[in-house]
Amino acid sequence: MSATGFRLVLLGPPGAGKGTQAALLAKHFAVPHVSTGEILRHEIGRGSDLGGRARQYIDKGELVPDQIMLGVIRERLSQGDCAPGVLLDGFPRSIPQAAGLEEIFAAEHVPMRAVSLDVPADEIVRRLSGRRTCRACGAMFHVTLSPPAKAGVCDRCGGELYQRDDDREDIIQARLDVYHKETEPLMAFYRERRVLRSVDGTGSSREVFRRVVEELEGAPA
Ligand code: AP5
Repeated sequence: MSATGFRLVLLGPPGAGKGTQAALLAKHFAVPHVSTGEILRHEIGRGSDLGGRARQYIDKGELVPDQIMLGVIRERLSQGDCAPGVLLDGFPRSIPQAAGLEEIFAAEHVPMRAVSLDVPADEIVRRLSGRRTCRACGAMFHVTLSPPAKAGVCDRCGGELYQRDDDREDIIQARLDVYHKETEPLMAFYRERRVLRSVDGTGSSREVFRRVVEELEGAPA
């Protein structure tokens, strides 16, 4: 699978490892990694109007409304670096978002693929409640599964590690409920279109990465 014409959507519940895998896959396939969660957190950090509106939903574990998110993704996909290919992490998250994305890709006449990462619920809670993220570079760690060399300090850039506000246990449960109601129906949506591959998301990050690459490179274009 080459970078040109690469349109990949990563699906899976919160904490399935989408961000971790997207970073590895984007490097491997030389395409930009577009995370709508990262875009929104960046907007919150810089105090923009979009960030202010998104925060009301994110802090409660709810989805930001589809119309806002479709605007965000249209804007991002129109940028030049996404023209040869793109890897989407966290978008789409609802049927209206998937339908909107289908229209955007149809206009480009490029086929897309979707990969879902399957991880059991108890593992999800364990991963999210221990996650730490670097404020400066966005690198991800886990207090026990992949700890930094020095507690609270990013191995990559020396930045401060923090716990996301939406990684509190009560909010994690709300995010999982929203996932089952709004996002899980996308599995049937993409299965019907015969573009979905399911991958076991348990095991080490490298093991999961190898499974995803095998699915993508072993599959016909
Ligand atoms: P977003 O940032 O997209 O959060 P999410 O989908 O809930 O996903 P996470 O980032 O929590 O998990 P992940 O699957 O990326 O796992 P990760 O690799 O980090 O969205 C946040 C919020 O923004 C949403 O709740 C919503 O409000 C809003 N939003 C965003 N997009 C939207 C949209 N399209 N529409 C509407 N609203 C939207 O891994 C998790 C942890 O596990 C880490 O600590 C990691 O180190 C560890 N880990 C990863 N892989 C492994 C492994 N194989 N083994 C052991 N540990 C692992």
